[in-house]
Amino acid sequence: MSKSVAPVSAPPSTVLNPDFSCSCTDVPDKFWEKCGFSTRAIHAGQEPVKCEHNTIVPPIFGTINFKWKSSSAQGKYSYARQANPTREMLEACLAALEGAKHALTFSSGIGAATAILSLLSSNDHLIASVDLYEGTKHLLENYISRNVFEVTFVDFMFGDNLNRAIKTNTKMIWFESPTNPLLKVFDISKIARMSHDRGTIIVVQDNTYLTPYFQRPLDYGVDISMYSLSKYMNGHSDVIMGAAVLNDSDLEKKLRYTQTCTGIIPSPYDCYLVSRSLKTLSIRLEQHQRNSIEVAKYLERHQRIARVLHPGLRSHPQYELFHHQAKGHSGIISFRHFGGRHETNIILSTVKIFTLAESLGGYKSLIGLPYMMSHGLLDPFLKESMGVTENLITLSVGLEDPQDLIADLECALTKAFPRQ
Ligand SMILES: Cc1ncc(COP(=O)(O)O)c(C=O)c1O
Repeated sequence: MSKSVAPVSAPPSTVLNPDFSCSCTDVPDKFWEKCGFSTRAIHAGQEPVKCEHNTIVPPIFGTINFKWKSSSAQGKYSYARQANPTREMLEACLAALEGAKHALTFSSGIGAATAILSLLSSNDHLIASVDLYEGTKHLLENYISRNVFEVTFVDFMFGDNLNRAIKTNTKMIWFESPTNPLLKVFDISKIARMSHDRGTIIVVQDNTYLTPYFQRPLDYGVDISMYSLSKYMNGHSDVIMGAAVLNDSDLEKKLRYTQTCTGIIPSPYDCYLVSRSLKTLSIRLEQHQRNSIEVAKYLERHQRIARVLHPGLRSHPQYELFHHQAKGHSGIISFRHFGGRHETNIILSTVKIFTLAESLGGYKSLIGLPYMMSHGLLDPFLKESMGVTENLITLSVGLEDPQDLIADLECALTKAFPRQ
């Protein structure tokens, strides 16, 4: 008598991709769209059949030029500034990660910003959040100083500011959420809705801090998700690169033209590295999140810490909003201690695992002082009024063991605040 075997079925929560059951051996178009984030990161745009010899790992096409079929017919590729297969495979993967139609890569995050800003003409008006990465602000100030287009900086925290700032010639809105170093969170859908209700305005969100794994701005009405891939997306602190991810095909054509004509393209070697790093993005970010929440909770319990900023903490003023629009938070934390510059200096010079350096999003934990680093060039009075004080320290919590990171901070804080 044969044993009766219970039929194997998917767990009830699993939504099966209907394309799994198709009889063809090739992967149907759009197959990956219905798969999960990690599957898309590993496969989308990189199927072996797309590569000569069916290589499992997409090769690096280091060539700058491609042989023409005849004097009147070029092949699919001609010159690598226009298109390169390694870059294309990365761009296909980036688009798939955000469920978007298009992605374009650039030689840096600021390069991506430059390309996006080239969508504006001389009489156009841009509204930017005052809480922007300082490098983006410098770029905008450069445009202001040369009267290229009009820019208004607005505090997005206060209700109607954005609505009031929109004018008939407003063509672009630019913001980040959460912001660094103060980790402010803005209502993405509200910003997009308000902007689109008032005209043909391109809404751009710099989503570098959360990546599409935790937050997908296009789902909330944003037109262009902009990235510094140099941070979490590459995650190994060894590549500078940027990207723009979008659905609008007209905007994509204009950005593609800028990418080719200005030549702000990444090298195929760097594209290969970012492509490789994306394969582990989900597990890296989960670990960054776990570590950062442990460190944040430790700091919150510490008697010499006045305030810990991390949207994963219940104490964060926009906790509910954050969790409504994001699946989680990365490794970025800011905290304010009860001392001044003297105590800050002791902390920064005592830590052994945290490295005093600019940037974020890599596997190594970093510690920073925005007052001297990202905001170093600003007037001290302005910095203080923005809340960027000498006792505000930022952490980019890496992938080390969290108990070691906490021990490192405990040692530095004990030295900075010896018991009297
Ligand atoms: C939020 C954000 N956007 C853009 C950039 C610029 O990126 P990149 O250094 O790749 O030009 C950075 C760099 O720190 C950043 O933090």
